[in-house]
Amino acid sequence: MATLADQDQDFSVLPDLPADVFTAPLRKPAHVGEDWIEPAQTRYGTAEDAIWNDLYERQMDVLPGRAASAFMAGLQKLPLGQRGVPDFNELSEELGYLTGWSVVPVPMLIPDHVFFWHLANRRFPAGNFIRTRETFDYIQEPDVFHDVFGHVPMLADPVYADYMQEYGRAGWKAMRYNRLKALGALYWYTVEFGLILEGPDDVRAYGAGILSGPTEAVFSTEAKSPNRIMLNVDRVMRTDYVISDLQPTYFVIESFEDLYHQTVERDFDRLYRNLPPAFTYANAAVIDVDDVLHRGTQEYLLRGGRGSGAKPI
Ligand SMILES: [Fe+2]
Repeated sequence: MATLADQDQDFSVLPDLPADVFTAPLRKPAHVGEDWIEPAQTRYGTAEDAIWNDLYERQMDVLPGRAASAFMAGLQKLPLGQRGVPDFNELSEELGYLTGWSVVPVPMLIPDHVFFWHLANRRFPAGNFIRTRETFDYIQEPDVFHDVFGHVPMLADPVYADYMQEYGRAGWKAMRYNRLKALGALYWYTVEFGLILEGPDDVRAYGAGILSGPTEAVFSTEAKSPNRIMLNVDRVMRTDYVISDLQPTYFVIESFEDLYHQTVERDFDRLYRNLPPAFTYANAAVIDVDDVLHRGTQEYLLRGGRGSGAKPI
């Protein structure tokens, strides 16, 4: 059966990157091996633990009622609270018990094929540093708070945990078709900025990019500005996205089973063959096939977005 991932692929070994696949050039630090895993997690001091605790507290002011129930349940089940930066071994033990996932420290952004390989083996690579007080509100590179607080609670959900593994396994096929950008858009609009409909008019966030910051948790679920459109995989993989500002469009799933069926159980060979090499739709576009929950006013964008100092809501 043609699916998201190649079924006969050996996922236990790190794949070679095909020569014609372009990925961002990243210099591997000398102290890590081919798996890019740090020999040990950073030992954080009191000041850094306090940053974690303050970030945690800030999120807990906005997330109840806005974060997906599965995320809040994951937070409860895992040792992620106000005890400083979590110990990855302790966290992995609990998570392993729940869904078989573990969390491993990596120095920074890692190459796509290494990232896919870890996910395919149920290892979540997490940043080995925490932001400073000066960069408390916004960071370019994902730190341990984004990676662990934002992503790990969702990995306690069995269906979502399977989706993430399948996403990692999908990397090989996307590389073979040279469609990593399209697969990246799927990650962006689900794992980082996904919303879920939990009841009529009850839209919640499950994406880590939303859940690890205070502004977007409110903006994505409540503001009039952005579009909220039901997820359609073909459409999403043709859609451009914004890296350094709030999203003009969010895509909404009905359930994690819905996400799993829409992605894992469909013919990606055909999809990749039909995909153009570049994105077709602008990030703020609403197109005729869309099942629109909320058509955004895009007022935040029209006022100039982040660079202008415009208030998101
Ligand atoms: Fe992330």
